[in-house]
Amino acid sequence: MYQGFEPKEGSQGLPPRSEETREEWLVSLLKGGMNLLAIMERRVVGHAVLLEMEDRQRCEYLVFVHQDYQNRGIGTALTQAMRDLAAGMGYSQIWLTVEAINFKAIHVYEKVGFCLVGPREIECEMVVYLQGDDEGP
Ligand SMILES: CC(C)(COP(=O)(O)OP(=O)(O)OC[C@H]1O[C@@H](n2cnc3c(N)ncnc32)[C@H](O)[C@@H]1OP(=O)(O)O)[C@@H](O)C(=O)NCCC(=O)NCCS
Repeated sequence: MYQGFEPKEGSQGLPPRSEETREEWLVSLLKGGMNLLAIMERRVVGHAVLLEMEDRQRCEYLVFVHQDYQNRGIGTALTQAMRDLAAGMGYSQIWLTVEAINFKAIHVYEKVGFCLVGPREIECEMVVYLQGDDEGP
């Protein structure tokens, strides 16, 4: 999926343009995170990752949907599924950063329950609180 993904480096420098760096990045995600794929017609069209940040407390979230398959609900479905998985595994929150101009991603995250925390700068932080703690700390 990432070989044909465009624009490369379009979202916070990801996915990496160089094949070698992209492979290292993917190996680190596959080894260090919980990975979920969206597959259509035997082709990987979406990839979401949860990376543990603090032992069973907080994890970071990333999601990519191939440009030919965007706006069909795949990013929302992956994000909802990862939210449910993280809650089931006992995490208390999912955290992410997103470029403030990435309106589509922010819309998807908000639909699934994430809210903006902190200042809205070039990048902003978003969090969804799990375990019924909707108000957070
Ligand atoms: C962000 C991303 C994961 C979303 O995946 P997707 O499969 O296209 O998302 P969905 O189809 O589930 O939902 C898209 C929603 O955004 C809305 N949308 C589309 N363009 C939009 C825009 N410019 N501004 C705001 N909302 C927009 C759609 O209407 C839809 O909302 P709705 O279901 O309420 O109508 C995908 O676009 C992507 O991979 N982008 C590049 C990588 C990236 O930015 N990743 C996130 C940061 S790590």
